[in-house]
Amino acid sequence: MNRLAQIAHSYEMQIEEAVSTIRARCGIRPLVALTLGSGLGDYATALKVEEEIPYTDIPDFPVSTAPGHDGRFIIGYLDQVPVICMKGRIHLYEGYEPWDVVLPARVMGKLGAEVLFLTNAAGGINFGFMAGDLMLVTDHISTFAPNPLIGPNFAEFGTRFPDMSHIYDLELCDLIRETAHQENVPLQEGVYVQLTGPSFESPAEIRMLRQLGADAVGMSTVIEAIAAHHAGMRVVCISCIANAAAGMTKEPLSGDDVNLTAGETAPMFSRLVSGSILALGKALKKS
Ligand code: HPA
Repeated sequence: MNRLAQIAHSYEMQIEEAVSTIRARCGIRPLVALTLGSGLGDYATALKVEEEIPYTDIPDFPVSTAPGHDGRFIIGYLDQVPVICMKGRIHLYEGYEPWDVVLPARVMGKLGAEVLFLTNAAGGINFGFMAGDLMLVTDHISTFAPNPLIGPNFAEFGTRFPDMSHIYDLELCDLIRETAHQENVPLQEGVYVQLTGPSFESPAEIRMLRQLGADAVGMSTVIEAIAAHHAGMRVVCISCIANAAAGMTKEPLSGDDVNLTAGETAPMFSRLVSGSILALGKALKKS
């Protein structure tokens, strides 16, 4: 076997092992995979929990090391909708490779999840945003993060050159808009850009990103969205605007403040996410 084939083989084994470890612990076939961003982990308490699986229980699984990221799968139900939730994600800045970061999304897809519902804390670049706003991600800029599909293509997941014209599912985004309206949750919309972190951006970088069309910036999400879309999952994302991006106020940025502000949006965030998951569950049942 050549070097690339060996890498691909061991990655596929890693995925198979994670899938079989999770299946052995919990027989639920999830419909929605939910990834909770920084400061947003408490949302997991909204689920009727059937099983919790720390990432450390899964052989060779990447482990969350970021502050505020618990590092466990929570599997359960929101009403009738089966959900697998990542309470704590994996980031590039922790030192992981792009394919490690997207491994959980691929595993959740293999477990049966049809939708990847991403959430994150982000810096607001758009002058119209305020800390505490929620933003529906309608598109992204991936140019500043390594592409997670570099390397051998896993044909069982998707094609070598996947289309990225509609990464964030148009129909499901509409359902989230409707839910926000019904729940009386103000919802911004915009383009999210992922940088690798872990340093925050400089003011000059924020000015550049604004000129490029970004509304919010963060250190996650985009590469997970690409891998999930490649694998045929339907992707949606809500960002919690935790701060005005660098240089937009006199305040220095801190990770603790990000987690704190994201946590403060919890009641609104929970209403929107729960309402949206229920709406997605209904829509998927019909289709
Ligand atoms: N920049 C990058 N990532 C972030 C920010 C930010 O301002 N806020 C929350 N995550």
